[in-house]
Amino acid sequence: MSQHQTQDITQAVLDRLSADADPRFKQIISAVVRHMHALAREVDLKPEEWMAAIQFLTRVGQTCDDKRQEFILLSDTLGLSMLVVQLDQARRSRDLKGATEATVQGPFYWENAPVLPLGSDIGKGMAGEPAYYAGKVTDAAGKPIANCCVDVWSGDGEGVYDMQKEGDAGMQLRARFHTDAQGRYHFWSIKPTFYPVPDDGPVGAMLRAMGRHPNRPGHIHMKVYADGFAPLTTHLFAADSPYLDSDAVFGVRDSLIVHYEKHAPGKAPDGRALDKPWHSAAYDFVLAQAK
Ligand code: BEZ
Ligand code: FE
Repeated sequence: MSQHQTQDITQAVLDRLSADADPRFKQIISAVVRHMHALAREVDLKPEEWMAAIQFLTRVGQTCDDKRQEFILLSDTLGLSMLVVQLDQARRSRDLKGATEATVQGPFYWENAPVLPLGSDIGKGMAGEPAYYAGKVTDAAGKPIANCCVDVWSGDGEGVYDMQKEGDAGMQLRARFHTDAQGRYHFWSIKPTFYPVPDDGPVGAMLRAMGRHPNRPGHIHMKVYADGFAPLTTHLFAADSPYLDSDAVFGVRDSLIVHYEKHAPGKAPDGRALDKPWHSAAYDFVLAQAK
């Protein structure tokens, strides 16, 4: 009798892994085989159901291009991206003690956003209410980190990212700022609003089949990094936004929820005069030393 008839098929696949394979790859691919086989057994997967899953994953791949990353969206909406962030933080918990918490990056990060002077307004001309962001970046002992990059991006006041706009909108609502000698940063953008993750593709169909909404609470993304420190990828969430308790990608952490104070038209802390209401959000970031 041939091997596949006499042996458990899961064990047969595992037995074919070369002893010379990279040990970490071996650990991961073995777990993939075991868990995928266990899944098929648990639900008694039918051939037509597995074919539908293959077609779904094919559509996920076909939906990706240089501006759209449906696989990240799939990972995010299934909670896997946030789980990986949490595992990473738990594994490094001693080194990251006291540091600002991380959350998912999401699919809309664009490298090499313009480097702008502190105080610049990246929300000018964009839909949305103006918001003034200010704070400092320190190490865990409270020592300011000068010349630290605060790389920010968000959707506009209607929750739409530049990458989602028709044609080539170019970079919008993105910039890199560098902290001053006291570790301070400040800039203008807009107050972010809740928005749906892209739901016109296969992941949107999956969310609907699950009976889930696609919305994320209002947030602004930040990467904060400086030489000698562990880089941080995080968001600030608006405390008054809907969906804080049901973020479509499970990214909310209490420590990242920020109160946006609303102000009447008038003078802002940097001397700017505003003829319409504006908001301010203050947040101090803490970076851990790189190990
Ligand atoms: C975002 O916040 O930009 C995002 C995160 C995960 C999925 C889709 C969008
Ligand atoms: Fe976002």
